Amino acid sequence: MIKVGIVGGTGYTGVELLRLLAQHPETEVAVITSRSEEGVKVTDMFPNLRGHYGGLAFSVPDPAALGACDVVFFATPHGVAHALAGELLDHGTRVIDLSADFRLQDAEEWARWYGQPHGAPGLLGEAVYGLPEVNREAIRKARLIAVPGCYPTATQLGLLPLLEKGLADPARLIADCKSGVSGAGRAAKIGSLFTEAGENMMAYSVKGHRHLPEISQGLRKAAGGLIGLTFVPHLTPMIRGIHATLYATVADTSVDLQALYEARYASEPFVDVMPAGSHPETRSVRGANLCRIAVHRPQGGDLVVVLSVIDNLVKGASGQALQNMNILFGLDERMGLGNAALLP
Ligand SMILES: NC(=O)c1ccc[n+]([C@@H]2O[C@H](COP(=O)([O-])OP(=O)(O)OC[C@H]3O[C@@H](n4cnc5c(N)ncnc54)[C@H](OP(=O)(O)O)[C@@H]3O)[C@@H](O)[C@H]2O)c1
Repeated sequence: MIKVGIVGGTGYTGVELLRLLAQHPETEVAVITSRSEEGVKVTDMFPNLRGHYGGLAFSVPDPAALGACDVVFFATPHGVAHALAGELLDHGTRVIDLSADFRLQDAEEWARWYGQPHGAPGLLGEAVYGLPEVNREAIRKARLIAVPGCYPTATQLGLLPLLEKGLADPARLIADCKSGVSGAGRAAKIGSLFTEAGENMMAYSVKGHRHLPEISQGLRKAAGGLIGLTFVPHLTPMIRGIHATLYATVADTSVDLQALYEARYASEPFVDVMPAGSHPETRSVRGANLCRIAVHRPQGGDLVVVLSVIDNLVKGASGQALQNMNILFGLDERMGLGNAALLP
Protein backbone atom coordinates (compact mmCIF):
# COMPACT_ATOMS: atom_id res chain seq x y z
CA MET A 1 0.00 0.00 0.00
CA ILE A 2 1.23 3.49 -0.80
CA LYS A 3 1.14 5.61 2.35
CA VAL A 4 -0.38 8.99 1.47
CA GLY A 5 -0.26 12.33 3.27
CA ILE A 6 -2.40 15.32 2.30
CA VAL A 7 -1.59 18.85 3.42
CA GLY A 8 -4.72 20.96 3.20
CA GLY A 9 -7.44 18.37 3.61
CA THR A 10 -10.37 20.69 4.23
CA GLY A 11 -10.28 22.58 0.93
CA TYR A 12 -12.07 21.61 -2.27
CA THR A 13 -9.08 19.94 -3.90
CA GLY A 14 -8.27 18.16 -0.61
CA VAL A 15 -11.74 16.65 -0.22
CA GLU A 16 -11.75 15.76 -3.91
CA LEU A 17 -8.47 13.88 -3.41
CA LEU A 18 -10.11 12.01 -0.53
CA ARG A 19 -13.11 11.12 -2.70
CA LEU A 20 -10.87 9.75 -5.46
CA LEU A 21 -8.45 7.98 -3.11
CA ALA A 22 -11.42 6.22 -1.44
CA GLN A 23 -11.74 4.19 -4.68
CA HIS A 24 -8.01 3.63 -5.16
CA PRO A 25 -7.02 0.07 -4.27
CA GLU A 26 -3.29 0.70 -3.69
CA THR A 27 -3.32 3.65 -1.29
CA GLU A 28 -3.93 4.31 2.37
CA VAL A 29 -4.31 7.89 3.64
CA ALA A 30 -2.15 8.06 6.76
CA VAL A 31 -2.03 11.81 7.43
CA ILE A 32 -4.40 14.61 6.55
CA THR A 33 -3.80 18.13 7.77
CA SER A 34 -5.84 21.13 8.69
CA ARG A 35 -4.73 23.79 11.13
CA SER A 36 -8.29 25.00 11.77
CA GLU A 37 -9.96 21.58 12.14
CA GLU A 38 -7.32 19.75 14.19
CA GLY A 39 -8.82 16.65 15.85
CA VAL A 40 -12.03 16.65 13.75
CA LYS A 41 -12.80 13.33 12.06
CA VAL A 42 -12.71 13.51 8.28
CA THR A 43 -16.12 11.85 8.02
CA ASP A 44 -17.67 14.30 10.48
CA MET A 45 -16.62 17.16 8.26
CA PHE A 46 -17.37 15.39 4.97
CA PRO A 47 -20.32 12.96 5.41
CA ASN A 48 -20.02 11.93 1.73
CA LEU A 49 -16.94 9.97 2.89
CA ARG A 50 -18.72 8.03 5.66
CA GLY A 51 -17.88 4.36 5.29
CA HIS A 52 -14.33 5.25 4.23
CA TYR A 53 -11.35 6.40 6.27
CA GLY A 54 -12.49 4.96 9.67
CA GLY A 55 -11.34 7.27 12.45
CA LEU A 56 -8.90 9.36 10.37
CA ALA A 57 -8.82 12.90 11.79
CA PHE A 58 -7.25 16.17 10.72
CA SER A 59 -3.95 17.09 12.35
CA VAL A 60 -1.68 20.11 12.12
CA PRO A 61 1.08 19.73 9.53
CA ASP A 62 3.98 17.84 11.11
CA PRO A 63 7.03 17.30 8.89
CA ALA A 64 7.99 14.08 10.70
CA ALA A 65 4.56 12.47 10.23
CA LEU A 66 4.36 13.67 6.62
CA GLY A 67 7.94 12.53 6.00
CA ALA A 68 6.96 9.00 7.02
CA CYS A 69 4.57 8.87 4.02
CA ASP A 70 5.54 7.59 0.57
CA VAL A 71 3.89 10.56 -1.10
CA VAL A 72 2.49 13.87 0.12
CA PHE A 73 -0.03 15.93 -1.83
CA PHE A 74 -0.11 19.66 -1.17
CA ALA A 75 -3.67 20.96 -1.64
CA THR A 76 -2.77 24.33 -0.15
CA PRO A 77 -2.44 27.98 -1.19
CA HIS A 78 0.81 29.01 -2.85
CA GLY A 79 3.85 29.30 -0.58
CA VAL A 80 3.03 26.32 1.67
CA ALA A 81 4.80 23.69 -0.43
CA HIS A 82 7.81 26.00 -0.80
CA ALA A 83 8.28 25.82 2.96
CA LEU A 84 7.90 22.04 3.40
CA ALA A 85 8.75 20.25 0.16
CA GLY A 86 12.54 20.26 0.62
CA GLU A 87 12.36 18.62 4.03
CA LEU A 88 9.97 15.94 2.79
CA LEU A 89 12.16 15.17 -0.22
CA ASP A 90 15.09 14.75 2.19
CA HIS A 91 13.03 12.09 3.98
CA GLY A 92 12.63 10.26 0.65
CA THR A 93 8.95 11.26 0.35
CA ARG A 94 7.66 12.15 -3.10
CA VAL A 95 5.81 15.44 -3.35
CA ILE A 96 2.85 16.19 -5.62
CA ASP A 97 1.94 19.85 -5.35
CA LEU A 98 -1.44 21.06 -6.57
CA SER A 99 -0.55 24.70 -5.99
CA ALA A 100 1.40 26.98 -8.30
CA ASP A 101 4.62 26.78 -6.23
CA PHE A 102 6.69 24.78 -8.72
CA ARG A 103 4.82 25.30 -11.99
CA LEU A 104 6.89 28.18 -13.35
CA GLN A 105 10.49 27.34 -14.12
CA ASP A 106 11.69 30.91 -13.58
CA ALA A 107 11.76 31.94 -9.90
CA GLU A 108 11.79 35.65 -10.75
CA GLU A 109 8.78 35.33 -12.99
CA TRP A 110 7.01 33.45 -10.17
CA ALA A 111 7.89 36.24 -7.72
CA ARG A 112 6.50 38.89 -10.09
CA TRP A 113 3.15 37.12 -10.50
CA TYR A 114 2.74 35.99 -6.89
CA GLY A 115 4.01 39.14 -5.22
CA GLN A 116 6.51 37.41 -2.93
CA PRO A 117 9.96 35.87 -3.40
CA HIS A 118 10.07 32.25 -4.55
CA GLY A 119 10.50 30.16 -1.40
CA ALA A 120 12.44 27.22 -2.86
CA PRO A 121 14.24 28.20 -6.05
CA GLY A 122 16.79 25.41 -5.49
CA LEU A 123 14.09 22.80 -6.16
CA LEU A 124 12.92 24.23 -9.48
CA GLY A 125 15.54 22.33 -11.46
CA GLU A 126 14.03 19.00 -10.53
CA ALA A 127 10.33 19.93 -10.44
CA VAL A 128 8.42 18.20 -13.24
CA TYR A 129 5.35 19.85 -14.73
CA GLY A 130 2.70 17.18 -14.26
CA LEU A 131 0.87 17.25 -17.57
CA PRO A 132 1.05 13.53 -18.44
CA GLU A 133 0.08 14.13 -22.08
CA VAL A 134 3.39 16.01 -22.46
CA ASN A 135 5.72 14.86 -19.68
CA ARG A 136 4.82 11.23 -18.94
CA GLU A 137 8.40 9.95 -19.09
CA ALA A 138 9.75 12.68 -16.79
CA ILE A 139 6.88 12.10 -14.33
CA ARG A 140 7.88 8.43 -13.99
CA LYS A 141 11.28 9.47 -12.60
CA ALA A 142 10.26 12.57 -10.64
CA ARG A 143 10.48 13.28 -6.92
CA LEU A 144 8.63 16.59 -7.11
CA ILE A 145 5.64 17.18 -9.37
CA ALA A 146 3.87 20.47 -10.05
CA VAL A 147 0.30 19.64 -11.00
CA PRO A 148 -0.92 22.07 -13.69
CA GLY A 149 -3.64 24.59 -12.93
CA CYS A 150 -7.20 24.16 -14.16
CA TYR A 151 -7.27 26.81 -16.91
CA PRO A 152 -3.75 25.78 -18.02
CA THR A 153 -4.82 22.13 -18.38
CA ALA A 154 -7.88 22.88 -20.52
CA THR A 155 -6.05 25.47 -22.62
CA GLN A 156 -2.84 23.54 -23.24
CA LEU A 157 -4.59 20.27 -24.11
CA GLY A 158 -6.79 22.22 -26.53
CA LEU A 159 -3.97 24.00 -28.36
CA LEU A 160 -1.07 21.52 -28.22
CA PRO A 161 -1.87 19.56 -31.40
CA LEU A 162 -1.92 22.75 -33.51
CA LEU A 163 1.25 24.22 -32.02
CA GLU A 164 3.31 21.03 -31.96
CA LYS A 165 2.76 20.67 -35.71
CA GLY A 166 3.49 24.33 -36.38
CA LEU A 167 0.05 24.80 -37.92
CA ALA A 168 -1.22 27.81 -35.96
CA ASP A 169 0.08 31.38 -35.96
CA PRO A 170 1.73 31.30 -32.50
CA ALA A 171 1.58 35.08 -32.14
CA ARG A 172 -2.21 35.35 -32.13
CA LEU A 173 -3.72 32.81 -29.78
CA ILE A 174 -6.83 33.52 -27.73
CA ALA A 175 -8.12 31.56 -24.74
CA ASP A 176 -11.60 32.63 -23.67
CA CYS A 177 -12.24 30.54 -20.54
CA LYS A 178 -15.09 30.07 -18.09
CA SER A 179 -14.77 28.58 -14.63
CA GLY A 180 -17.15 27.34 -11.97
CA VAL A 181 -17.02 28.93 -8.52
CA SER A 182 -15.22 26.02 -6.78
CA GLY A 183 -12.13 27.17 -8.69
CA ALA A 184 -11.79 29.93 -6.10
CA GLY A 185 -11.47 27.45 -3.22
CA ARG A 186 -13.59 26.86 -0.12
CA ALA A 187 -12.51 29.84 1.96
CA ALA A 188 -15.24 32.44 2.51
CA LYS A 189 -15.04 35.32 0.02
CA ILE A 190 -17.72 37.82 -0.92
CA GLY A 191 -17.36 37.06 -4.63
CA SER A 192 -18.03 33.36 -4.04
CA LEU A 193 -21.31 33.90 -2.19
CA PHE A 194 -24.37 32.33 -3.83
CA THR A 195 -26.00 35.75 -3.97
CA GLU A 196 -23.00 37.28 -5.73
CA ALA A 197 -21.97 34.50 -8.12
CA GLY A 198 -25.45 33.07 -8.88
CA GLU A 199 -27.30 34.39 -11.96
CA ASN A 200 -24.20 36.29 -12.95
CA MET A 201 -21.25 35.99 -15.27
CA MET A 202 -18.19 38.20 -15.42
CA ALA A 203 -14.69 38.37 -16.83
CA TYR A 204 -11.86 39.03 -14.39
CA SER A 205 -8.10 39.62 -14.42
CA VAL A 206 -8.19 40.62 -18.09
CA LYS A 207 -4.98 42.64 -17.62
CA GLY A 208 -3.16 39.49 -16.54
CA HIS A 209 -4.09 36.37 -14.59
CA ARG A 210 -1.55 34.19 -12.73
CA HIS A 211 -2.28 31.30 -15.05
CA LEU A 212 -1.10 33.32 -18.07
CA PRO A 213 2.65 32.73 -17.52
CA GLU A 214 2.01 29.04 -16.86
CA ILE A 215 -0.01 28.56 -20.04
CA SER A 216 2.50 30.61 -22.05
CA GLN A 217 5.41 28.53 -20.71
CA GLY A 218 3.72 25.30 -21.87
CA LEU A 219 2.64 26.66 -25.24
CA ARG A 220 6.13 28.09 -25.91
CA LYS A 221 7.54 24.61 -25.43
CA ALA A 222 4.96 23.08 -27.75
CA ALA A 223 5.54 25.73 -30.41
CA GLY A 224 9.32 25.71 -30.02
CA GLY A 225 9.46 29.50 -29.77
CA LEU A 226 7.71 32.63 -28.61
CA ILE A 227 3.94 32.79 -28.54
CA GLY A 228 1.42 35.58 -28.04
CA LEU A 229 -1.62 34.66 -25.95
CA THR A 230 -4.63 36.66 -24.83
CA PHE A 231 -6.22 34.84 -21.89
CA VAL A 232 -9.54 36.04 -20.53
CA PRO A 233 -11.00 34.08 -17.59
CA HIS A 234 -14.66 34.35 -16.57
CA LEU A 235 -16.56 33.33 -13.47
CA THR A 236 -19.81 31.48 -14.22
CA PRO A 237 -22.58 30.31 -11.89
CA MET A 238 -21.72 26.62 -11.85
CA ILE A 239 -20.02 24.70 -9.05
CA ARG A 240 -17.54 22.67 -11.12
CA GLY A 241 -16.24 23.00 -14.64
CA ILE A 242 -13.94 24.82 -17.00
CA HIS A 243 -15.02 25.61 -20.55
CA ALA A 244 -12.20 26.92 -22.73
CA THR A 245 -13.03 28.36 -26.14
CA LEU A 246 -9.70 28.66 -27.93
CA TYR A 247 -8.99 30.57 -31.14
CA ALA A 248 -6.01 30.15 -33.48
CA THR A 249 -5.35 31.11 -37.08
CA VAL A 250 -4.00 28.53 -39.53
CA ALA A 251 -2.20 29.25 -42.78
CA ASP A 252 -2.93 25.88 -44.37
CA THR A 253 -6.67 25.22 -44.43
CA SER A 254 -6.26 21.87 -46.17
CA VAL A 255 -5.10 20.02 -43.02
CA ASP A 256 -7.62 17.56 -41.58
CA LEU A 257 -7.72 18.90 -38.02
CA GLN A 258 -10.11 16.24 -36.78
CA ALA A 259 -7.63 13.53 -37.84
CA LEU A 260 -4.75 15.52 -36.33
CA TYR A 261 -6.44 15.78 -32.92
CA GLU A 262 -7.58 12.16 -32.95
CA ALA A 263 -4.04 10.99 -33.76
CA ARG A 264 -2.42 13.21 -31.11
CA TYR A 265 -4.61 11.88 -28.33
CA ALA A 266 -5.24 8.33 -29.61
CA SER A 267 -3.36 6.71 -26.74
CA GLU A 268 -4.32 9.19 -24.04
CA PRO A 269 -6.75 7.63 -21.56
CA PHE A 270 -8.03 10.97 -20.26
CA VAL A 271 -8.43 13.06 -23.41
CA ASP A 272 -11.52 12.45 -25.51
CA VAL A 273 -11.56 14.00 -28.97
CA MET A 274 -15.23 14.21 -29.79
CA PRO A 275 -16.72 13.61 -33.26
CA ALA A 276 -16.47 16.46 -35.76
CA GLY A 277 -19.06 19.16 -35.13
CA SER A 278 -19.47 18.39 -31.40
CA HIS A 279 -20.00 20.88 -28.60
CA PRO A 280 -18.61 19.35 -25.38
CA GLU A 281 -20.45 20.31 -22.21
CA THR A 282 -18.90 20.81 -18.79
CA ARG A 283 -21.49 18.45 -17.30
CA SER A 284 -20.13 15.66 -19.51
CA VAL A 285 -16.91 15.68 -17.44
CA ARG A 286 -18.30 16.53 -13.99
CA GLY A 287 -16.54 14.34 -11.43
CA ALA A 288 -14.45 12.57 -14.09
CA ASN A 289 -10.75 12.86 -14.89
CA LEU A 290 -11.36 13.79 -18.48
CA CYS A 291 -10.72 16.53 -20.97
CA ARG A 292 -13.19 16.48 -23.83
CA ILE A 293 -12.20 18.40 -26.93
CA ALA A 294 -13.90 19.37 -30.17
CA VAL A 295 -12.21 21.18 -33.04
CA HIS A 296 -14.07 23.44 -35.46
CA ARG A 297 -13.21 25.62 -38.46
CA PRO A 298 -16.34 27.77 -38.86
CA GLN A 299 -17.39 28.24 -42.49
CA GLY A 300 -14.15 26.58 -43.61
CA GLY A 301 -12.14 29.73 -42.84
CA ASP A 302 -8.65 30.07 -41.45
CA LEU A 303 -9.80 30.58 -37.84
CA VAL A 304 -9.80 27.39 -35.80
CA VAL A 305 -12.08 27.21 -32.74
CA VAL A 306 -11.23 24.51 -30.22
CA LEU A 307 -13.65 23.70 -27.41
CA SER A 308 -12.05 22.07 -24.37
CA VAL A 309 -13.85 21.13 -21.15
CA ILE A 310 -12.65 19.68 -17.86
CA ASP A 311 -13.82 19.46 -14.26
CA ASN A 312 -11.55 21.96 -12.50
CA LEU A 313 -11.37 19.75 -9.41
CA VAL A 314 -10.61 16.52 -11.28
CA LYS A 315 -8.57 16.76 -14.51
CA GLY A 316 -7.91 20.36 -13.43
CA ALA A 317 -6.51 19.38 -9.99
CA SER A 318 -7.00 16.27 -7.82
CA GLY A 319 -7.68 13.71 -10.57
CA GLN A 320 -4.65 14.85 -12.50
CA ALA A 321 -2.63 14.72 -9.25
CA LEU A 322 -3.71 11.09 -8.77
CA GLN A 323 -2.93 10.32 -12.42
CA ASN A 324 0.58 11.65 -11.73
CA MET A 325 0.86 9.48 -8.60
CA ASN A 326 -0.11 6.38 -10.59
CA ILE A 327 2.56 7.10 -13.19
CA LEU A 328 5.14 7.89 -10.52
CA PHE A 329 4.55 4.61 -8.68
CA GLY A 330 4.43 2.49 -11.84
CA LEU A 331 0.71 1.71 -11.45
CA ASP A 332 -1.91 1.60 -14.17
CA GLU A 333 -2.40 5.30 -14.92
CA ARG A 334 -6.19 4.84 -14.79
CA MET A 335 -6.29 3.28 -11.32
CA GLY A 336 -9.01 4.90 -9.18
CA LEU A 337 -9.93 7.24 -12.03
CA GLY A 338 -12.26 5.11 -14.10
CA ASN A 339 -15.62 6.57 -13.06
CA ALA A 340 -17.91 8.12 -15.67
CA ALA A 341 -19.02 11.73 -15.25
CA LEU A 342 -22.12 12.58 -13.21
CA LEU A 343 -25.08 13.47 -15.39
CA PRO A 344 -27.45 15.24 -14.99
N1 LIG B 1 -10.10 24.87 -6.56
C1 LIG B 1 -9.66 24.49 -7.76
O1 LIG B 1 -10.43 24.26 -8.70
C2 LIG B 1 -8.19 24.33 -8.00
C3 LIG B 1 -7.78 23.79 -9.23
C4 LIG B 1 -6.42 23.62 -9.47
C5 LIG B 1 -5.49 23.99 -8.52
N2 LIG B 1 -5.91 24.55 -7.35
C6 LIG B 1 -4.89 24.94 -6.38
O2 LIG B 1 -4.90 23.95 -5.34
C7 LIG B 1 -4.58 24.58 -4.09
C8 LIG B 1 -5.72 24.31 -3.10
O3 LIG B 1 -6.91 24.86 -3.64
P1 LIG B 1 -8.33 24.70 -2.93
O4 LIG B 1 -9.32 25.30 -3.86
O5 LIG B 1 -8.52 23.30 -2.48
O6 LIG B 1 -8.10 25.67 -1.65
P2 LIG B 1 -8.98 25.87 -0.37
O7 LIG B 1 -10.34 25.29 -0.63
O8 LIG B 1 -8.86 27.31 -0.03
O9 LIG B 1 -8.21 24.98 0.75
C9 LIG B 1 -6.97 25.30 1.22
C10 LIG B 1 -6.49 24.23 2.22
O10 LIG B 1 -5.16 24.53 2.62
C11 LIG B 1 -5.07 24.60 4.04
N3 LIG B 1 -4.12 25.69 4.34
C12 LIG B 1 -4.27 27.01 4.11
N4 LIG B 1 -3.17 27.70 4.48
C13 LIG B 1 -2.29 26.79 4.94
C14 LIG B 1 -0.97 26.88 5.48
N5 LIG B 1 -0.34 28.05 5.58
N6 LIG B 1 -0.36 25.74 5.87
C15 LIG B 1 -0.98 24.54 5.78
N7 LIG B 1 -2.23 24.38 5.27
C16 LIG B 1 -2.88 25.50 4.86
C17 LIG B 1 -6.48 24.87 4.53
O11 LIG B 1 -6.69 24.27 5.80
P3 LIG B 1 -6.30 25.00 7.17
O12 LIG B 1 -6.29 26.48 6.92
O13 LIG B 1 -7.33 24.54 8.16
O14 LIG B 1 -4.91 24.45 7.51
C18 LIG B 1 -7.32 24.14 3.47
O15 LIG B 1 -7.47 22.77 3.83
C19 LIG B 1 -4.41 26.08 -4.38
O16 LIG B 1 -3.05 26.37 -4.53
C20 LIG B 1 -5.15 26.27 -5.70
O17 LIG B 1 -4.64 27.33 -6.46
C21 LIG B 1 -7.24 24.71 -7.06
